[in-house]
Amino acid sequence: MVQSKAATAPVHPNAEPLPAGRRGVRAWLYLLAFLVVCMVAVGGATRLTGSGLSITEWRPVTGAVPPLSAEAWASEFDKYKGTPQYQILNQGMGLADFKVIYAWEWGHRMLGRILGLIFFLPLIWFWWRGALDRRLGAGLLALGALGGLQGAIGWIMVASGLQPGMTAVAPLKLALHLTTASLILAGLVWLAADIRARPAEPASFGVKFTARVLAGLVLVQIALGGLVAGSKAGLVYNTWPRMNGDWVPPFADLFAVTPWFENFVDNVTLVQFDHRIGAYLLVAIAFLHAVHATWRVPGTGAARRAWGVAGLALAQGVLGVVTLLLAVPLWAGLSHQVFAMAVLIMATVHARLTVAEQSLPAVVGTPSPAFGFERMSPAS
Ligand code: HEM
Repeated sequence: MVQSKAATAPVHPNAEPLPAGRRGVRAWLYLLAFLVVCMVAVGGATRLTGSGLSITEWRPVTGAVPPLSAEAWASEFDKYKGTPQYQILNQGMGLADFKVIYAWEWGHRMLGRILGLIFFLPLIWFWWRGALDRRLGAGLLALGALGGLQGAIGWIMVASGLQPGMTAVAPLKLALHLTTASLILAGLVWLAADIRARPAEPASFGVKFTARVLAGLVLVQIALGGLVAGSKAGLVYNTWPRMNGDWVPPFADLFAVTPWFENFVDNVTLVQFDHRIGAYLLVAIAFLHAVHATWRVPGTGAARRAWGVAGLALAQGVLGVVTLLLAVPLWAGLSHQVFAMAVLIMATVHARLTVAEQSLPAVVGTPSPAFGFERMSPAS
């Protein structure tokens, strides 16, 4: 039984052997991570095709059924015609085109519902079978709560774009939505990486510390990217390495808006400049970290993974430059958004698997306290 094996699972996440129940949990976590990446991709396509404001209501349950009759389509289209986006940007749009933008937004929301089901149903099952230890169970509950919050943030974001005079959602809310998705992805990958059979080779504290800082920096860079996307700052300064001839744009342009702090969100010059500087810092730190890891722990998984993070960050930077130079065609914007998730996954796995000598537990093989209904399970 899954439960009995899990109850005697070693507490050290890297100890062998990996019980079948734990393997199932790990596969489920990676499936969820994959679905989150799909969700980010469909969300990106929804934004880049200008489809995000086509559904004007939030109906988490009944909204799963799309319009099925001509009358239902006409009613949905009428609601969209009442939005500022239609009146300012899309006057004269036909029903056929409306159906296309509706399909993107509906698909994005539907994927969210499916993701919720694939999260909660197996969670209950694994919990009931006692396959989750306390730490994993607590982590999953936190991620479930974050997932629920993400749905609400998504709607708050859409609602911001339905306000009078608005033709797109508020940049800060879009960045928050993307960053929360990225946090959920990182959390899933972190927990999945925790469950493995092979012991990690210990690294120095410095290597472990920088691996974690790097994962944090990737998250910050994704948030800054969300601001670029949300404020459409990729449609200006389409030159590289200088910004229309300047290494650093004039102060008056960087801080053209008052109050000064709004420039970080609303001023396309500063928003793009921040994203560029963030990228240079991230790539530089990633390469320094890889050299450091190779010097301190040569030939180990930590050193190899550090080069993986550096290589992916550099590739993402190049993709960002291409996206900018071409003024954000759909394929480039979407690839840049999805590739950011690859960088985040690699950085998270690296941060989780890189352990310092002193953080390895002294006792390996101590039974882990199971989480949930283990006492009710038939195997107990
Ligand atoms: C190396 C680390 C980088 C990371 C992790 C990163 C990440 C991101 C993310 C997550 C977005 C938001 C995508 C979206 O919501 O559609 C974004 C947008 C963007 N980034 Fe980057 N980026 C990086 C480097 C760069 C560089 C070096 C440039 C150019 C100099 C750049 C240019 C852009 C542009 C133009 C957008 C807006 C795309 C759009 O409107 O869809 N990025 N970035």
